[in-house]
Amino acid sequence: MTYEATRASLETYFDRTAAETWARLTSDAPVSRIRATVRAGRDRMRAVLLSRLPADMTGMRLLDAGCGVGQLAVEAARRGAEVLGVDISPNLLEVAAARMPADVTGRVALQAGDMLDASLGAFDYVVAMDSLIHYRTPDIAAALARLAERTRAGIAFTVAPSTPLLQAMHLAGKAFPRADRSPAIVPVSAARLARELAPRCGWRLGRVERVTSGFYISEALELAP
Ligand SMILES: C[S@@+](CC[C@H](N)C(=O)[O-])C[C@H]1O[C@@H](n2cnc3c(N)ncnc32)[C@H](O)[C@@H]1O
Repeated sequence: MTYEATRASLETYFDRTAAETWARLTSDAPVSRIRATVRAGRDRMRAVLLSRLPADMTGMRLLDAGCGVGQLAVEAARRGAEVLGVDISPNLLEVAAARMPADVTGRVALQAGDMLDASLGAFDYVVAMDSLIHYRTPDIAAALARLAERTRAGIAFTVAPSTPLLQAMHLAGKAFPRADRSPAIVPVSAARLARELAPRCGWRLGRVERVTSGFYISEALELAP
């Protein structure tokens, strides 16, 4: 799958197939026990990524790349950042706009489109929480290199770690007919990602933390000059 083909299947999935499920998962509404573990893991991961950003972001510009319903964007705006949340799903952005708390209105702009669009401008920081986990490692490396070109201080993002369980799930997923599947999550080894990045970008790749909570497994990494 090319970057464009993955993005197209994610657009269908997040904007239509899973839009309601996603809106519920990201709200306070009751969910199944399994989904509750995912919600808890995502809350923890959001805190991990936010811990890589300055406590006071006054005057700084942040890109929330693949912002979904804007949970991280809101927290960063509360630190004073000017946030641009970009997502390929207009429906999720509508949910984000409807949920925008009054204390951050004016500091979070939402835009439908591709996170790699150069017309979005330059940023101090970029975060991409679980928005690159469906792309192949070379595509993630190329995306990060492009984002780094217009970022000053750092990029905090997540990948699906290359654990035996996720590898097995990835292989099992390939056995299902295409129509029955949500877009596959692609396990990524940080060492391979670093090798793919090296010729494209001089920035340093660092491990931050792995979060495991029931069915949620995600690894925070960061890229810094
Ligand atoms: C798993 S969701 C995570 C949303 C949000 N970051 C969060 O953690 O709540 C992944 C999001 O990335 C978005 N996405 C995927 N590829 C994208 C791209 N190339 N440009 C912009 N958004 C993208 C999807 O539409 C989806 O909303």
